[in-house]
Amino acid sequence: MIDLVVLVSGSGTNLQSILDAIESKRLDARILRVVSNLAGVRALERAEKAGVPTQVLSHKDFINRQTFDVALAETVGNPDYVVLAGFMRILTATFLDRFPYRVINIHPSLLPAFPGVDAQKQALDKGVRITGCTVHLVDAGTDTGAILAQAAVPVRDDDTRDTLAARILDQEHKILPAVLQWIAEGRLQLVDGRPRFSEVTAALSF
Ligand code: GRF
Repeated sequence: MIDLVVLVSGSGTNLQSILDAIESKRLDARILRVVSNLAGVRALERAEKAGVPTQVLSHKDFINRQTFDVALAETVGNPDYVVLAGFMRILTATFLDRFPYRVINIHPSLLPAFPGVDAQKQALDKGVRITGCTVHLVDAGTDTGAILAQAAVPVRDDDTRDTLAARILDQEHKILPAVLQWIAEGRLQLVDGRPRFSEVTAALSF
């Protein structure tokens, strides 16, 4: 069993995939709290419906990233892992140093391709035929931390940004809970920021 705090900013479908995996016992975890930097987002409704405590901490109430990150770390407390599930703020070392190798993000591209905002549009603009999603550890760079799992998604000729994003999201909803379960089972260990997979885990694909 691992204890999670999930940070969100938007629709919260990845949060929902974690909630659903816990509910159906595919994931041996508890979500202690869901924290959003935006009020009124759908992710908060999803958490409340599942009976998970929520908190809004608006970055606009702070004079800079550092002071926001200090307050955010206090709000997060001391879970085993912090999961960024559509959390649209860059976290500084002020926050990350409090949770070494314990912050996990889901990003909608096959990193290191297309880091940063609107990775789906970046993929379409480049004309790649395959893109996907990546679960990775968060470090002080933008989407640069150690890669834990990836899933590939084909790009279709008639894709728009939204059709592609939806196809990638389907895979996000599979790999994020799966990685968390690997960690909960000890099949994926995070040693000094490097992932160590058991043979069984490394052979899995989606
Ligand atoms: C996902 O595509 C995620 O990879 C990205 O933001 C989106 C969040 O979607 N970081 P949701 O809020 O989980 O529905």
